[in-house]
Amino acid sequence: TDQSTRELLLSRIRDVADYPKPGVVFKDITPLLADPKAFTALTEALAETCVRHGATKIIGLEARGFILAAPVAVRAGVGFIPVRKAGKLPGATLAQAYELEYGTAEIEVHAEDLEAGDRVLVIDDVLATGGTAEASLELVRRAGADVVGVAVLMELAFLKGRERLEPALHGAPLEAL
Ligand code: PRP
Repeated sequence: TDQSTRELLLSRIRDVADYPKPGVVFKDITPLLADPKAFTALTEALAETCVRHGATKIIGLEARGFILAAPVAVRAGVGFIPVRKAGKLPGATLAQAYELEYGTAEIEVHAEDLEAGDRVLVIDDVLATGGTAEASLELVRRAGADVVGVAVLMELAFLKGRERLEPALHGAPLEAL
């Protein structure tokens, strides 16, 4: 992405202090989604990433990752696969638990949505601690598919998600717009 696109995207992300709890600054992307110029620019940048890495399928991470990944999949002409929080998918799933700051979480994917030979790009809005993205890469690999990269709008570098994600990337890139 060029400098002016990055500035446009950044200008449409709202910092909300003390949400969802005191001391946390929430990155709200709803102003970006409401601006067709910004949302289109983001979709095109992520679709370019998808094409550049030869992805054949896109995974979006619930819930905000869905909003970004679905139009990218249409634009790039590849399939969209939802990775959901545990208990939401009706069919046979692969599940992956991961550590949060306090406690654990679990995500799932429909097992039949991924197969050996698939080249998967994972898309989300924010990389924070990296736990969600890391677990999604485990799901892709357990299904026998290949990871071509992880693409996010924002990386909260101070949380060191990139370091946590690194071993699960197996050399694939993490691209933060
Ligand atoms: C946020 C964000 C990422 C994840 C990043 O989602 O959209 O998916 O957290 O955090 P991590 O890098 O520390 O794992 P959230 O769990 O708030 O879900 P939502 O999109 O459904 O609100």
